[in-house]
Amino acid sequence: MRDDTPSFTASWVAGMRGLGAFLPERLRLVDDPYGLRFSRAFRRFRQRDGALTPLASATSRLWFRGYIRRFAVYMQLRTRDIDDDVVDFVRAGGRQLVLFGAGFDCRAWRLAALSGATVFEVDHPATQARKRAIMDGDSPCGRVVFVPWNFERPLSELPARLASEGHDPSAPTMTILEGVLMYLTPEATDATFECIRHYSAPGSPAAITYMDEALVRERSGQGFGRRLVVGLAGEPFKNGFHAPAVPAWLEERGFHLERDESASQLGTRFFGAAVGRRIASRRHARSHFALIRRK
Ligand SMILES: C[S@@+](CC[C@H](N)C(=O)[O-])C[C@H]1O[C@@H](n2cnc3c(N)ncnc32)[C@H](O)[C@@H]1O
Repeated sequence: MRDDTPSFTASWVAGMRGLGAFLPERLRLVDDPYGLRFSRAFRRFRQRDGALTPLASATSRLWFRGYIRRFAVYMQLRTRDIDDDVVDFVRAGGRQLVLFGAGFDCRAWRLAALSGATVFEVDHPATQARKRAIMDGDSPCGRVVFVPWNFERPLSELPARLASEGHDPSAPTMTILEGVLMYLTPEATDATFECIRHYSAPGSPAAITYMDEALVRERSGQGFGRRLVVGLAGEPFKNGFHAPAVPAWLEERGFHLERDESASQLGTRFFGAAVGRRIASRRHARSHFALIRRK
């Protein structure tokens, strides 16, 4: 990431989450009234009170199609899957969350279930400063603690910093590592899991998303296009996983894999087999959503 520039990929995914409001009811799994605020291209499509702009709604058949629409559907699946895990964690008594690479994830503002919980948002200082400026004046459901951190700084120091901000390592913590692992080097990935293991009490869950290494290296036009865009934005893909090797990789690092689904499988689970088949793609089959647990 560039030192002085907020993350482009964070604004992109936030915008795509926000565009979910333009999907037909049957494809809508979550509503993120804040997402569009972070997108330069789409921020005028929703008013501050959350209402969709009449012009954007009236013309959505023209502009909301193809790649953008498919990405918005993908973000519905990704967001809802993790939202459900967050709600389960809180229902089971969990009160601490760490959003690792929080970006413009507005769960702390969206999810009423988080009232009574503390959300530690750890992210690159430039991205976090933009989020704070944009969300200034909106009250979160729970308590939000902002922890600016460049992951290229030693992550071994992060648990102590979290503790100094009120984090209790002896109580369960849910970590969310959503859309982040593909931007970290293998060394930074190891340091990230070591750090999570360090601040998480045994039994703590983490929701992670990862890309199959075949998707990171894909030689198709689409694969090349994706790499070009993120590379130009200064956030190149750096890491992918061989899915069958992930359970053992996690065990070695002190975590147990509880669930691992591809975006295609989520499509079938949330929308049913017919829609699941229609939205299935190679990219969906190679994008993973996993729930893991600290041993
Ligand atoms: C694709 S965004 C995902 C944001 C959020 N988790 C979501 O799903 O909406 C990637 C995030 O990783 C963060 N990130 C990438 N490299 C980083 C680094 N070296 N230090 C701190 N944060 C970093 C970016 O600031 C950005 O917020």
